[in-house]
Amino acid sequence: MRSLLQSLLVFACGLSAVSAYDWNASPINPPALPLAVRTPYLSAWLPQGLDGAGSGRALNSEWPTFWRLDETLGWAGLVKVDGKAYSFLGAPIVTGASFSKAVQTSSHASLYTSTQTVFAMTAGTVDLTITFLSPIEPDDLCSAAANDGNSHSVQVYSDITAEWLVADRSRAANWTTTTADDLLIHQTQLQDQTQYAETDDRVLQGSVLYALKNTTASTFQTGQDTLVRAQFINNGTLANTQDTDFRAIGSGWPVFALTQDLGSVSGTAPDPVIFAIGHVRDPVIQYIQPDGSFQARSYYWQSAYDSAASLISAFLDDYTNALARATTLDAQIRQDAEAISPAYADIVELSMRQSFGATEITISGEPGAWNTSDVLMFIKGERRNLNTVDIIMPSWPVFVYTNLDYCKYMLLPLLDYQLSGQYPNQYAIHDLGTHYPIADGHNDGQDEPMPIEESGNMVIMLLDYTQRSGDISMIDTYASLLDTWGAYLAGNMPFLADQLATTDFAGSLPNQTNLAVKGIIALEAMAVIKEYRGDAEAAATYHDTAASYLATWQQHGMSADGSHLTLEYGNDTTDVLAYNLAMDKLLKLNFIPDSVNDIQSAYYAANTGMLAMMHQWMIWTTMGTTTAVRDQFIEALHAWLTSGITQAPFGDRFMDDNGANSGNRGRPVIGGNLALYRGCQVRKMLHYGETNFDA
Ligand SMILES: *[C@@H]1O[C@H](CO)[C@@H](O)[C@H](O)[C@H]1NC(C)=O
Ligand SMILES: *[C@@H]1O[C@H](CO)[C@@H](O)[C@H](O)[C@H]1NC(C)=O
Ligand SMILES: *[C@@H]1O[C@H](CO)[C@@H](O)[C@H](O)[C@H]1NC(C)=O
Ligand SMILES: *[C@@H]1O[C@H](CO)[C@@H](O)[C@H](O)[C@H]1NC(C)=O
Ligand SMILES: *[C@@H]1O[C@H](CO)[C@@H](O)[C@H](O)[C@H]1NC(C)=O
Ligand SMILES: *[C@@H]1O[C@H](CO)[C@@H](O)[C@H](O)[C@H]1NC(C)=O
Repeated sequence: MRSLLQSLLVFACGLSAVSAYDWNASPINPPALPLAVRTPYLSAWLPQGLDGAGSGRALNSEWPTFWRLDETLGWAGLVKVDGKAYSFLGAPIVTGASFSKAVQTSSHASLYTSTQTVFAMTAGTVDLTITFLSPIEPDDLCSAAANDGNSHSVQVYSDITAEWLVADRSRAANWTTTTADDLLIHQTQLQDQTQYAETDDRVLQGSVLYALKNTTASTFQTGQDTLVRAQFINNGTLANTQDTDFRAIGSGWPVFALTQDLGSVSGTAPDPVIFAIGHVRDPVIQYIQPDGSFQARSYYWQSAYDSAASLISAFLDDYTNALARATTLDAQIRQDAEAISPAYADIVELSMRQSFGATEITISGEPGAWNTSDVLMFIKGERRNLNTVDIIMPSWPVFVYTNLDYCKYMLLPLLDYQLSGQYPNQYAIHDLGTHYPIADGHNDGQDEPMPIEESGNMVIMLLDYTQRSGDISMIDTYASLLDTWGAYLAGNMPFLADQLATTDFAGSLPNQTNLAVKGIIALEAMAVIKEYRGDAEAAATYHDTAASYLATWQQHGMSADGSHLTLEYGNDTTDVLAYNLAMDKLLKLNFIPDSVNDIQSAYYAANTGMLAMMHQWMIWTTMGTTTAVRDQFIEALHAWLTSGITQAPFGDRFMDDNGANSGNRGRPVIGGNLALYRGCQVRKMLHYGETNFDA
């Protein structure tokens, strides 16, 4: 259950001894470092890159940004050591008070892991460790220790601005500070809210919370940025006062500030100061019902906690354990990935928080009467669509690896909607609605049409879920949909009409070789589904169709000289990254002849331009290549990540501009980078913590 409780983060400032003073990023300096990345609306990054290969930017060199990069998130951190102030987070400008910048040093641990981003800094005679923790459960962390063996007086300060609500700084916000449950909690929201509405990828609804455990050593203040920060710099504490002159986000920049006095710090690190940040709203998702009415869905965590304050309190109390669990998970993920290669592990670790940061887990009901058997997960792609099928399919491995239930929770809303009969097309829907967070389906059938792509994806994901879970209830309950999609695939192949595939940016084409093989593998998957359901006759029919289409596909999709697969049937001057061959590996069907994979593998090796085609599918592609070619793909992706060419959170497309301007940024699809985990290729296994990694 804990893993379903999301939307809050903890951020801790720890003080501890660090000996090296040059700053080397381990494992790499990625384009952007995740700081607080948890939901589509709680997504704070520290841009790196752009200064050349291996370059990085310090935590206190600029403001964090929202995932789009064009929206600053005011988040400041200051520390006073023996009366002298240093900044460690953000780029505050404070008139009327002077401070220095702490110096970012080599981290003794990794700069980032799967769940944490960790900075080491020196503030005069004290070393700081600043940890941002976004567990694959909710949370973010700061600690301190003297570096000269003496005792020092240390106070830690942090604030946020109302930029965490929306990008438009002319919008009016209001705020309160409360002291419930032994906490100091600042809460801010827009004065004028609209349920289920987005502007600039931000939701015009809900509140941002910034919290600290209240002790005799903590203080708070709300007010104008320069005044509040100067108060801390000059005095080391805040005034415990609230500014009630509610105003626009950028008007006299209200900040929500918290401090903790660590007292006298010597070589031994005291307990860290832990700040929690969260974005909450209720309702969360508007979801279409079988009768066309709409259901208001809430965050899953509301079924376990009666308020955001009690959730935050529980997490702050549990943070030592949460950090330990996160660190164990980090080590497991790193170890599993290093079985492939260290470069692969660097890629995978950077993929985890971003994937989960696009999701929200919801429940129906109301306080006191939550329906805990009705859990649905919603996922936002870069654009505003909900549960886009060709976003879920490429992301699939990260959810398979962490918890197979997530896979079910993402598919259920798509399945229930289509089972209700409201969607008119005979193929699988592309997405559940064009305006996150409104899941209103497409009763007019006018979703972006990708008939073979999405029908194939749904069949493949349902079989994969069934194989791994051993739970045949999904293919039973939705058997009629599977039959509809199976019939569509059989009736519209092996020659394909002019249509879009997941590569919609490239436009439509008839007879796409790579798209066709997904559909053909899905027909073979239908045969297995029919076997599971005890219908041998239907299984044989599907299998025969798939085998016959495969023979036709090999004739038309292979170049005349047999050297490579083409982009479209019969056009020998074209080639393609044939990532859909991986679906056969995913499902362990052994249906595609090895010769096809061998040909493609040799072709990629000889045509190195193929190695950098479209990295959302790069790692998937290597499921069918030789180990040498697999490593070439991994190195190409790793080289791009470390090239300093972009500051965007892990992009997933680069064609002709080397990805410098990739519009596809910060998307969950990089969850597909986990496709090589052995755990992702094994049937009937799963759940983190059990034996999911043994072949
Ligand atoms: C802030 O604005 C919200 C939305 O209009 C409103 O519900 C709330 O009462 C306001 N809070 C304060 C403290 O004015
Ligand atoms: C914080 O806790 C201290 C005691 O631990 C108490 O004296 C103080 O009043 C509390 N502050 C607030 C704002 O409730
Ligand atoms: C500084 O803080 C102390 C309490 O710690 C308070 O008595 C004093 O008035 C404050 N000074 C200023 C300038 O805010
Ligand atoms: C709870 O959810 C399940 C699954 O959607 C549903 O079958 C059941 O009817 C719901 N119960 C109530 C009381 O609404
Ligand atoms: C697909 O390829 C087949 C075989 O070459 C051809 O007959 C058919 O016209 C093509 N389909 C389209 C829509 O171009
Ligand atoms: C083959 O593909 C190339 C590159 O996409 C295209 O320019 C050409 O028109 C295609 N040829 C045919 C016969 O479709």
